[in-house]
Amino acid sequence: MRVIRAVDYFDLSRKAAGIIAAMVTLKPDSVLGLATGDSPLGIYRHLADSFNSGDIDFSQTRAFNLDEYRGLAPDAEQSYRLFMWKNLFSKINIKTENLNIPDGLAGDPDAECARYEAAIRDCGGVDMQLLGIGHNGHIGFNEPGGSFVVNTHLVDLTDSTIDANSRFFKTREEVPVQAYTMGIGSIMRARKVLLIVTGRQKAEIVKRAFRGAVSPEVPASILQLHCDFTLVGDEAALSLM
Ligand code: GLP
Repeated sequence: MRVIRAVDYFDLSRKAAGIIAAMVTLKPDSVLGLATGDSPLGIYRHLADSFNSGDIDFSQTRAFNLDEYRGLAPDAEQSYRLFMWKNLFSKINIKTENLNIPDGLAGDPDAECARYEAAIRDCGGVDMQLLGIGHNGHIGFNEPGGSFVVNTHLVDLTDSTIDANSRFFKTREEVPVQAYTMGIGSIMRARKVLLIVTGRQKAEIVKRAFRGAVSPEVPASILQLHCDFTLVGDEAALSLM
């Protein structure tokens, strides 16, 4: 596990974007695993700027998103598909046929999970997986529990995740109660994993996840066992490490 200390959110975003840019430059047809939430927004701005200045070409890059709410149409305002389109995909030259996000409206959840897992495998697996971390230690939507769920699956969101994500919805009642997420195995099979974290409010969970015991009660803790895991945090988030 490698820890990169950034001064602040801007510095964190620049450093993490540099790592992703290096990956795409060295392997133009990289398979990137991408994340939503507030944390990656700075990275996506940097990547769009680097594309505009001619420093990166995404024309061969493939992308798989970590997760998607169940029950939201792809063009729904709070869908992760629309989030990715607005914040990154519409600003770079990645091809639409190379974008993959679980289908929130799939009629058969088991079939959708199997389809998604097979699509990742058929692409040769994820080269670099970008992650944020939830306040309860979740990665993607792998919520704390008694065991690690290996493959892409449908989860019941915890109350704390629904509360945290209600900031993107008009009311708490509008937040979907289920979501599709890559599993812990899907994430651990990525050749490189990059987790970004910002702010003092995440310092406690960062300490538990990366200095505490590996446990499904803190899903991100499994990353301690990944052979190429990089944590990029700002001073506030890493203040208890
Ligand atoms: C959501 C996403 C996660 C993300 C987490 C933290 O629950 N499913 O992938 O890491 O939120 O988001 P933020 O970066 O906004 O704190």
